[in-house]
Amino acid sequence: MENKLLTPLQLGDYSLKNRIIMAPLTRNRANADLVPTDLNVEYYRQRSSAGLFISEATQISRQGQGYPLTPGIYSEEQIAGWQKVTQAVHAEGGRIFAQIWHVGRVSHSSLHPKEGLPVAPSAIAAEGNTMTANWQQVPFETPRALKVEDIKATVQDYRQAAINAKKAGFDGVELHSANGYLLHEFLHETSNQRTDEYNGTIANKARIVLEVIDQLVDVLGAGKVGIRLSPFAFPYGIYDPKSFEVYKYLIKKLDAYKLAYLHLVRVRREEHDDQQLLDKEKELWDNYSGTIIAADGFNPKIAQEYVEKDWADAVAFGRYFIANPDLPKRIEIGANLNPYDRTTFYGGAEKGYTDYPFLQEEKA
Ligand SMILES: Cc1cc2nc3c(=O)[nH]c(=O)nc-3n(C[C@H](O)[C@H](O)[C@H](O)COP(=O)(O)O)c2cc1C
Repeated sequence: MENKLLTPLQLGDYSLKNRIIMAPLTRNRANADLVPTDLNVEYYRQRSSAGLFISEATQISRQGQGYPLTPGIYSEEQIAGWQKVTQAVHAEGGRIFAQIWHVGRVSHSSLHPKEGLPVAPSAIAAEGNTMTANWQQVPFETPRALKVEDIKATVQDYRQAAINAKKAGFDGVELHSANGYLLHEFLHETSNQRTDEYNGTIANKARIVLEVIDQLVDVLGAGKVGIRLSPFAFPYGIYDPKSFEVYKYLIKKLDAYKLAYLHLVRVRREEHDDQQLLDKEKELWDNYSGTIIAADGFNPKIAQEYVEKDWADAVAFGRYFIANPDLPKRIEIGANLNPYDRTTFYGGAEKGYTDYPFLQEEKA
């Protein structure tokens, strides 16, 4: 029987050639103006055999930047840089969505000196260390709490990012609402202690996410919009005993939009024997009737099992796709996978970026 990962999938407005998704992966290799470069174009081109390529997270504003040399999608130069990326992916028959990003309090003022302190739902510092513009590890700063008018302006920045993504030739956008960044910060009590319409009830906590989704759908249409959530991950000191209820509410609401997909950072079933947690995850997933992409810790075998058991419609690979530009081909023929090199994940040039061998090169 054919491996289901290699079969087509209708995802929103698109028919994907396979169910092997390139996960969004920050690589910190844009130029000093935070514009994608020719080297970035080559990296994307190499991996366009993915059914869908989800771009590295791209910030919607200078204030939304969290790490050195991550690309933006708010200037004309950045749009032009991304155009070269999307053209390269399309020339190889690929599809690509832009992951749009605001890091909220997971930022540092050295990255955006003009804008000053990072912003967040509340003036509560994230836990741990962050990185300055010069790659120095320092403790997180206490962010400035967004005023309601700032929130409205940020929602408009997301809208503009969708307009820019369309102009840059992306097939759609993925809203980054996971992993401890701005939208995730609104969902939980330890990072959101507002006393206005953005906290106090579950609906209020989820309000900004849905306001942004409204804008993205208005610009692009629901079939070109996806969203990423990490319901069971609480990075940077985010926590909330009610988080499960928040996600249940949010996912039910998202279901009504008929989005292209819901992208979930999963619980690794093969490593967890916490049945309660797995049942909770199943309950969340069962609450959603549309297309689901699952991510986190997949190898080809587990991924195949996931889609064949209908636990997810498609699977995103992160680190293995970094190290194997021809991952779908390797899965098809059962080839060995190149190991990944963590030391070259973030920053640098070709090494660990565009120099991982394709199968033919290995044989040669
Ligand atoms: C180098 C690196 C960069 C990442 N950057 C992003 C990102 O920009 N946006 C995002 O949502 N997740 C990001 N992640 C998480 C990945 O998308 C993915 O969920 C994670 O790597 C787990 O999948 P894997 O086990 O297949 O690698 C990143 C992970 C790594 C290792």
